[in-house]
Amino acid sequence: MKRSKPARRGASRADASRPRVVVLAAGVGSRMRSSLPKVLHRVAGRTLLDAVLDTAAGLSPSATVVVVGKDGGRIEASLEGRGARLAVQDPPLGTGDACARGLEVLSPGSGPVMVLAGDTPLLRVETLARLVARRDEKDLDLVFLTFRPPDPGDFGRIVRDGRGRPRAIVEAKNTTARQKKIAEVNAGVYCFEPEALARALAKIGRNPVSGEYYLTDTVAILAAGGGRVEAIEAEDWREAWGVNTRRDLAEAEELERRRGVERALDAGVTILDPASVRIGPRVALAPDVVLHPFVSLEGRTELSEGCEVLPFTRLVDTRVEAGAAIGPHCEAAEARIGARSRVGPFSRLRPGTVIGEDVRIGNFVEVKNSVLGKGAKAQHLAYLGDADVGAGANVGAGVITCNYDGEKKHRTSIGEGAFIGTDTQLVAPVSVGKGAYVGAGTTVTEDVPDGALALSRSPQVNKEGWATRRKAKKS
Ligand code: UD1
Ligand code: CA
Repeated sequence: MKRSKPARRGASRADASRPRVVVLAAGVGSRMRSSLPKVLHRVAGRTLLDAVLDTAAGLSPSATVVVVGKDGGRIEASLEGRGARLAVQDPPLGTGDACARGLEVLSPGSGPVMVLAGDTPLLRVETLARLVARRDEKDLDLVFLTFRPPDPGDFGRIVRDGRGRPRAIVEAKNTTARQKKIAEVNAGVYCFEPEALARALAKIGRNPVSGEYYLTDTVAILAAGGGRVEAIEAEDWREAWGVNTRRDLAEAEELERRRGVERALDAGVTILDPASVRIGPRVALAPDVVLHPFVSLEGRTELSEGCEVLPFTRLVDTRVEAGAAIGPHCEAAEARIGARSRVGPFSRLRPGTVIGEDVRIGNFVEVKNSVLGKGAKAQHLAYLGDADVGAGANVGAGVITCNYDGEKKHRTSIGEGAFIGTDTQLVAPVSVGKGAYVGAGTTVTEDVPDGALALSRSPQVNKEGWATRRKAKKS
């Protein structure tokens, strides 16, 4: 029979049964040999802690607490805007003690308590949800995650009884020779019934080898007391990978990279050299995208059908519409590239760049906070900053928007179909009208009306025979 779950007054039933999350991040992390706290190291661009918190947020927890050590200031700063509470564990007396410190700060409720480590960045929310669902369904005191990595190394070994029920987690340091060979290990992901957790935490003793309080001991404590304890094995061992050393961190990066590549291949993407391509966990790719060697797709980058990303190109938080191509050797951040547009080689698109359809951006062109209309072109050696470029406008080689006066940024407007000659400087704020021409080498300081020609060069002087006479004198 299911135990009844009293709802807190004022809180809805649904809210009372939502999971609450405790993330342990107070360990010293000395095995990293770093001045940076371990959980602030990055995998696929995100800190280990951010990765864990992003995943946990997928459970819509009613509360989240992060347990940090006495020097938790940098971790606290990294949590800004997350709505997670902080608990301090000082001194670090082990994962069991850290969990107890977290519970003191966690808002009360009857929802299950999900305990996660801050150093397992590859977890998936589906797996956490499986634990929550299993606990709920069987009214378990504890259900935790296990996995079988190629080498069980320093992970805690899972000891099961003759009926396959988990009886204990034995830390690698404490194993017998026989236990050491156990392939199934602890992922450090637990879903507890809150009262069972409190009961078990109160009974944990110091580990005889390390003197620490181990959260893993709750398994033996609950199982021995007749509690209902189960373990679920991860479908893919890679997602439970924990980071303790720089080697583990490098391995996590590679596991995440391979996972990104596999996800893309399954989604219908062609990858010419899977070993050199990086695809972050929040990247979205449509079928028939083609990725060339050494492409890196980061943040919330989105590529629509049939896009092609050429070699050595990095896209961060960038959206590319159907059939567009970018690269080789390009970088784009917080940019949008319209359908069928062609960017590169050697182009740089900075934040706020919005490129329409059928646009051409060529080599050594930098665009920042600018909008380019359909069919506009800037093919060589240009800087377009804070500019609005109309449809079909042509920006010649060496054109520069002088958008910054040393104090403020100003906008440049180039009308539809305008032609900006080579080596023009547009001193903003300034506008060039629709269909207007600007002659090569002009410094545009005044607005140019629609359909006009602007020229600011000094007239050319030809001195007949001058060079010939000079040579003759010298000889
Ligand atoms: C832990 C588990 C091990 C499991 C492995 C999975 C224990 C005793 N062992 O080992 O069974 O296989 O994770 O990755 O739990 N932390 C604190 N305060 C402390 C100590 C640790 O907050 O006093 C935090 C750490 O910052 C870390 C997490 O708890 O995020 C796990 O601690 P760590 O020292 O990395 O444990 P492992 O040796 O990896
Ligand atoms: Ca660890």
